[in-house]
Amino acid sequence: MGHVGLVTAAVFADLGNDVVGADVDAAKIACLRAGECPFYEPGLQELLHRNLEERRIAFTTDTAAAVSASDIVFITVGAADAGGDSLDAASLRAVALEVARGMGASRAQSEPARAPRKLVVNKSTAPVGAGDAIMQTLEEHAPAGARFDFCANPEFLREGSAIEDALKPDRIVIGARDGDAAARLAELYAPLDRPIIITDVATAELIKYASNCFLATKISFINAIADMCELVGADAGAVAQGMGADHRIGHEFLQPGLGYGGSCFPKDVETLIAIAAARGCDFALLRAAREVNHSRVGRLVARMTEALAGVRGKTIGVLGLAFKPNTDDLREAKAVELIRALLAAGATVRAYDPEAMARCAALLPEVQYCENAYETACGCRALVVATEWNEFKSLNLARVRDVMAEAVIFDARNIFPPEKVRALGFRYYSVGRAQRGGTGPA
Ligand code: UDX
Repeated sequence: MGHVGLVTAAVFADLGNDVVGADVDAAKIACLRAGECPFYEPGLQELLHRNLEERRIAFTTDTAAAVSASDIVFITVGAADAGGDSLDAASLRAVALEVARGMGASRAQSEPARAPRKLVVNKSTAPVGAGDAIMQTLEEHAPAGARFDFCANPEFLREGSAIEDALKPDRIVIGARDGDAAARLAELYAPLDRPIIITDVATAELIKYASNCFLATKISFINAIADMCELVGADAGAVAQGMGADHRIGHEFLQPGLGYGGSCFPKDVETLIAIAAARGCDFALLRAAREVNHSRVGRLVARMTEALAGVRGKTIGVLGLAFKPNTDDLREAKAVELIRALLAAGATVRAYDPEAMARCAALLPEVQYCENAYETACGCRALVVATEWNEFKSLNLARVRDVMAEAVIFDARNIFPPEKVRALGFRYYSVGRAQRGGTGPA
């Protein structure tokens, strides 16, 4: 019942299926039974309530019983260890064993011999070969005579727009060993009326890595172009717009900034590099994309250090903590990396995020957490926009300026128009735009 599992469960329930969500975490299951979502995802709480009320969704810690009761079993665990290439992910092994046990339970309940084969579907992002390993675990541990099929069905949903992404995926990828299994899973997805791509298992697994790594590379590419823009005096936003207008390139994932974070891109890039390396192949292109991404926070801190003549002893405000807007997820969040670097350099950090502060306080207790952006700015020598939440885009910047010790903004996500900010008297620094820093019209 992580992000992918709970969203998948809620969406399939909403489509009219009977769904049981299983997790080993008893506290989480209790919370879900009470209708509380354990993380923030727009729209999910409502979906959960509706389907709990209409009794289409239930939750349990008894995985074997959930498997026993189901025709189709989705495995949705955080499976891949970053940089790992083998199926050493203990969580995936453990869950495959539980699924095998559940198949035993269904036989014990004297399921009719003609009962449909159980369809086990892996949605977890796991290294190529994970599907074979799951099949092997099932074959070794399911009781003799248990009948099952297997599909790989990678998930492409994004945090923050997960419901929409799950209901309207660009494509549904099904990797199967035989046509019957693929057809059964395709039938479950039929109500979505979206394109379905059917492949073998390894191809489906690689489609997921190739897609995420391509998008990560696209972000690193525009960040490298942003660095170029600063060198030649061009505007990265306009360059991205010009590039994106070519339909072969497209506008999405061309936003320069602090680089990519989150639970997927950094890990998937590491894993694909490792998958290649394990087979004697140096995926140099992907290593370069990772390098660009790693350099982003250091670059910003260097710029801040230069512009502020050092950050030691200075108070810096950070707006946005989550790895991207509309989530409270801090995994691989660039804002966290930035704050750690600022604290290590001797700065005092004040911060605000609409959703992620409670989680961040547990991670970085030394930060002063504030009620809103204005309170954060109070007494600061500089303010950094680290995550582009909508509510920061229309801040009253004159009010912000008046409470700051010094009017300096580092807009690491390019949310403000430079002319407007400079006209208000700020020294303003952004990404991939001429870094004049000074005040006055751009
Ligand atoms: C990603 C994939 O998009 C999704 O298909 C997959 O299932 C899981 O991984 P997610 O991690 O939720 O989804 O976030 P996403 O919206 O893709 O953003 C990832 C990171 O890239 C964020 O840190 C975001 O700030 C950054 N990003 C995104 C940019 O820096 N620039 C962009 O133009 C787009």
